[in-house]
Formats: sequence, C-alpha cells, structure tokens
Amino acid sequence: MKTKISFPDNFLWGSATSSHQVEGDNRNNDWWSWETEGRVKEPSGKACNQYELFKNDFKLARSLNHNAHRFSLEWSRIEPEEGKFDLQAIEHYREMLKNLRSLGITPIVTINHFTLPMWFYKKGGWIGKRGGQEFASYAAKVAEKLGEHITYWLTVNEPVSNIYSAYITGSWPPGDKSMKQAGKVFVAILKAHCLAYKAIHRVYKKKGWVKPKVSFAKFTLVYAPCRPKSINDKLASLLRHYYVNKLFIASLMKGRCLAPGMPPTILPARRSLDFIGLNYYTRDYVHLDKLLDLNTFGYVCSVLHHKDSAKRNFLGWEIYPKGLYDMLMDFSKYKLPILITENGICTSNDNDRIDFLKDHLKEVAQAIKDGADIFGYLHWSLIDNFEWAHGYGPRFGLVDVDYASQRRTVKPSARILADIIKNNAV
Ligand code: BGC
Repeated sequence: MKTKISFPDNFLWGSATSSHQVEGDNRNNDWWSWETEGRVKEPSGKACNQYELFKNDFKLARSLNHNAHRFSLEWSRIEPEEGKFDLQAIEHYREMLKNLRSLGITPIVTINHFTLPMWFYKKGGWIGKRGGQEFASYAAKVAEKLGEHITYWLTVNEPVSNIYSAYITGSWPPGDKSMKQAGKVFVAILKAHCLAYKAIHRVYKKKGWVKPKVSFAKFTLVYAPCRPKSINDKLASLLRHYYVNKLFIASLMKGRCLAPGMPPTILPARRSLDFIGLNYYTRDYVHLDKLLDLNTFGYVCSVLHHKDSAKRNFLGWEIYPKGLYDMLMDFSKYKLPILITENGICTSNDNDRIDFLKDHLKEVAQAIKDGADIFGYLHWSLIDNFEWAHGYGPRFGLVDVDYASQRRTVKPSARILADIIKNNAV
C-alpha cells in the first residue's frame, strides 16, 4: 500500500460557486441581458435556485466535511442602481455568512465573479470614467456591512480569462473584440482591485476588526509549445505564460504595470495582495507561425491535435494534474501563501472526477512537501451549475442537480473527497 501524504493542520477544505451560476433570477446584470439576446447556449433562468436553497446546500457541504466555502456576492442585487444599496439583499448575504459560520465553515467571499450590474455596464463597465472608484465604493459598502463575518476576500474572479472571453473571442459580454480594449480593461481592473483592496483594509481598521486577507482569484493555465523544437512556439508559450498567468499578479506585487503593449500604469497601492488565490484546470498547446501573430501570442492548437490519448473533460480540456504542481511552485516565488480557489472537472462520468481529485490533490501535497505555502483547496464546484456560454451541459459539481426538481444528489466523488478531508491526507 502506498503511503499517504498529509496536509497541514487547519488546512481549508471545501468548494466554490459564484452567484450568477447558482442563485437564479439574476435579472439585473450584463449576463442576463446577454442571455436574453440569445448569445449563449441556454439562459441561466432559475439556475440552482440557491438564493432560496443555500441552507440546504451548506448543510450538504458540512456533511461532506467541508470547513471552507467560497461564494460570490451579486453586485447587481446589492447595488441595483448606482449608489442605492438594497438592504434586504445585504441581509440575505449576512444570513448566508451566519449560516456558514454556525456550521463551522469559513467563508471565502468573492466581491465580483464576472457579472456587472446593468447601470455599471451601461456606463462602460471597468473602463467607464469612474469604473474603479465605483467598484471600490461597492467593496467598501459590503466590507462595512458584512466584514464582521469575513476574513478572506477575493475582489474579482479571473480578470484575464474574463477579458479573453469578452474582448478576444467575443463570446462573453460586451463581446467587443479588440486587443486594445483588452489592454485597457486589464489595467482598469488592476486599478479597481487596488482601490478595493485599500478600501476593505480601511474599513477593518476603522471598525477595529482583525486585519482581513484580501486577494483575487487568478486564472492559470499551462501553455506548452506545439512543436517543442520550434523557437516561435516556445516564444508563444512563454509570452502567454507571462501575460496570461503572471502579469496581473506581478503588477500588483510591484505597484505598477509595465509590459510591452500594455498601457503603462502606476497603481494606487504599492503591494495589494495578502495571499494568492489560484484557479487551475488544464493545459493548452500553442503555436506561432508568423511573427505578426505575436500580437495574439500565437494560437491555441485545436484540442485534439495533441496527445489524442490524453484524458479530457466534457468541454475537451486536457486533464493535466502535473500542471497544478508547476503553477503552485511557480507562484510560490512570490512568497505569499496560496489558496487554491478553483480546480475541477466537468464530466458525466463521476469515476473521472474521483481520479481527477486524487491526482490533483497528490500534486498539491507534493508541492507542499517541496516547500509551497498552500493553506487550502476549494473544489469547483459544490453543485452542478450554469457554465456561462456553455449553459447547463457541463457538470462540475460534487453534488448533482436535477434542474427540473432542484433535487440534489451527492456523487460518489464527493464522498471520496470527504474521506480525504477527514484523513487530511491523500
Ligand atoms: C470560473 C468559473 C467557471 C469555471 C469552469 C472558472 O474559470 O471562475 O466561473 O465555471 O472556471 O469553467
């Protein structure tokens, strides 16, 4: 029998969701309007109705030994009109937080997971004239109203993957394909994060609360050169690794964004990260045929082009556990503690999820053994949910959702993870 590798004491174990993907009826944001225009496979509609069923879902999480849970606040519910805050919505999130605490579950709260309130969107969103300040005042408000129950905050979720889908492939709102816009939004979100970081810390100081830990959730993806011997392909993979994986964090660590092709920007804070939130799913292969394609850092090869034997998820993404180790070791160089804020697989074959969990957690354990300071693992996702432009087909949940009846059924993989958590070892 192979010996198990243990995780540190007090390791945060749990799962993650986001408001628009699970709550249902989020009618006042840019995604709802995008969905109504028919731009996605199917609309979010009632989603998992978690706005009403959260107690049931959190009880399930507790029964699966989770001691942490990541969820997001829906900005369009909290601030439906600019500067007007809905106290009932804030109260609802307070109830969620109190419920988690009463179950012994540590909340990890995302302030913005992709969706924007319509008023903010119509004013130009992140690149609207006062986009950063508007986001920071929303952040200050939720910190003030809810902060007594929260230590861990994530300002925004995956700014780079959001920008990629919204401004490069154009499949997400506003669908405005332009590299130039993408660069502008990148620095606008950087600034917005810094302002929110400062605002949250300010609120805690004023209230005399224990200092919060503030970060954002970073999308990471392993980029491999399509032809290992091609200098061009290698260049494309290095550029993508730098611009997609590293630049956002590097800028926050240094207090400035200075990278070729990006609007040069000095940020409003010198260092605005208390830990690193890291999301990881897969590996892509990239190639660069003409130097002109450097603008786009080359191209991603068609998914089936490489390693036909590789295991893939329902959406065709390669399952590559070693990539998680590589990312964790690479991001350890920033010398900040790391929380794995997302990692998961969409599949209708739960045995694949069991393998995925074990294989990825072994890589996490190995990274810890090799010196990485990792304090938690949050699986994406607790329950099956609305997978953005792909609709409800992909199933990422540890718990199955029957969307017609809203019945939840725990999958065997959830029990395997529950055992791993109980043993604190894999
Ligand atoms: C996002 C989630 C999404 C998941 C699976 C992450 O990039 O934060 O919202 O559901 O990936 O695609």
